[in-house]
Amino acid sequence: MPHLVAPSVLSANFANLQSDIELINTSEADWFHVDVMDGVFVPNISFGFPVIKALKKLAKKPLDVHLMIVDPDRYAQTFKEAGADILTVHYEACPHLHRSVQNIKSLGMKAGVAINPHTSVSVLEELIHDIDLVCMMSVNPGFGGQKFIENTYSKISALKQLIQRKNSKTLIEIDGGVDLNNYKKLLDCGADVLVAGNTVFSSQNPSATISALKK
Ligand code: DX5
Ligand code: ZN
Repeated sequence: MPHLVAPSVLSANFANLQSDIELINTSEADWFHVDVMDGVFVPNISFGFPVIKALKKLAKKPLDVHLMIVDPDRYAQTFKEAGADILTVHYEACPHLHRSVQNIKSLGMKAGVAINPHTSVSVLEELIHDIDLVCMMSVNPGFGGQKFIENTYSKISALKQLIQRKNSKTLIEIDGGVDLNNYKKLLDCGADVLVAGNTVFSSQNPSATISALKK
């Protein structure tokens, strides 16, 4: 499968979101990556349902919604109604992760699980076949534009081995600090989906940068 690119809306221009949405619509990007932060699980607050609903009206590509919030089960249905196609919860925020994943799927969304940089991929051993996507954090979640953590490469290889060993179809998404210097190595290690915020939106030509990440 060719790899996917998901620009992160967190780095878009909120004063003119429509123009950045149209930019992604007409680019080679595959998904919109949508970061929801609650100021509790992570030390930042981003945006919520009104913004996601507005985004959904204009977006012509799937919404990949990454929840950096405590107790995400409480809101899964509301995120479905707001337009989420893929809903990702954090391993570190879910004491009953199996139930959270089944709940997301029963609502008709793809289920993602995100793991923080300190979390070993081995914690997903018993659940990997139920997960559509693992969002591997390559920065500590909370902010765009942070420095990529080098230890991620070996974690991707370990996760790829686990997925192959279990004969699962789970996609590996890399989130944080992805740029034009590291993306090839990430793909070589086994990444399927590249999230990119700062790299896309702070570039001179975001659409060309997305195309470059697709190559
Ligand atoms: C970080 C978010 C990321 C962020 C990535 O907590 O989950 O999705 O937007 O931004 P960059 O690509 O700028 O590191
Ligand atoms: Zn994210």
